[in-house]
Amino acid sequence: MALVSAKEMLEKARAGKYAVGQFNINNLEWTKSILQTAQELQAPVILGVSEGAGKYMCGFKTVTNMVKAMIEELNITVPVALHLDHGSYEGCYKCIEAGFSSIMFDGSHFPIEENVAKTTELVNVCREKGLSLEAEVGSIGGEEDGVVGAGECADPEECKKIADLGVDMLAAGIGNIHGKYPANWKGLSFETLAAVNEKVGEMPLVLHGGTGIPTDMIKKAISLGVAKINVNTECQLAFAEATRKYVEEGKDLQGKGFDPRKLLAPGAAAIKATVKEKMEIFGCIGKA
Ligand code: 13P
Repeated sequence: MALVSAKEMLEKARAGKYAVGQFNINNLEWTKSILQTAQELQAPVILGVSEGAGKYMCGFKTVTNMVKAMIEELNITVPVALHLDHGSYEGCYKCIEAGFSSIMFDGSHFPIEENVAKTTELVNVCREKGLSLEAEVGSIGGEEDGVVGAGECADPEECKKIADLGVDMLAAGIGNIHGKYPANWKGLSFETLAAVNEKVGEMPLVLHGGTGIPTDMIKKAISLGVAKINVNTECQLAFAEATRKYVEEGKDLQGKGFDPRKLLAPGAAAIKATVKEKMEIFGCIGKA
């Protein structure tokens, strides 16, 4: 199946009260593990690519070609969207050109007027080309240079303003943070989420920072309009832990255990298990 925009799968998820997972990719093993799990579980899936990961994988064109070829070679028939995560204005245009099927324009750090102007322009371009567009209001916290910033809560009025521009999905900050949550994290602000949900009508909402959010909070967020949940760090932690175990057990020193196809296999299996676990919680299994 060709790459699809995320619009339809998210509208179905919102109406059906489940969420589609966005799993960020970093390399071939990541992409393969996520696609195979989605196919096995008959779940729609969104492959997220940050600008940094795009650069690491030798550019967005390399990523698009790898994903498209893998979908064909692995006979993937479930809907797959290839999505730019936290795109800059310039990054959005690069991904449109490279053949992504979905982009996120993160204009949350611009003054609201500038965020509105740039988002409006991108809405028109994406409509014309059949891509889905995600916008963000209220920045998502996270670790930057070793300092963990608290997640900001979005202003519901600003969310409505951006939603009304015609974006397909909206990420609203509700106290969520990228990376591991600190011990003193106050949890998601359901008050903010409920207020945003009431303002934006049927717009699918996006929950960033999916790593480490307790299951009951995830389920409550879905009941309040969240239809897309982003997960990145959790797959990285699972991969690193499985790889460390393999090396610590000395398996790379046994026979041909140093062969990357063997060395990276436990990590790939750990990504698959993590994706499966998340898909079970999100309720998207069998929804392809
Ligand atoms: P985590 O790394 O916390 O799972 O967040 C992922 C994310 O929100 C990507 O946009």
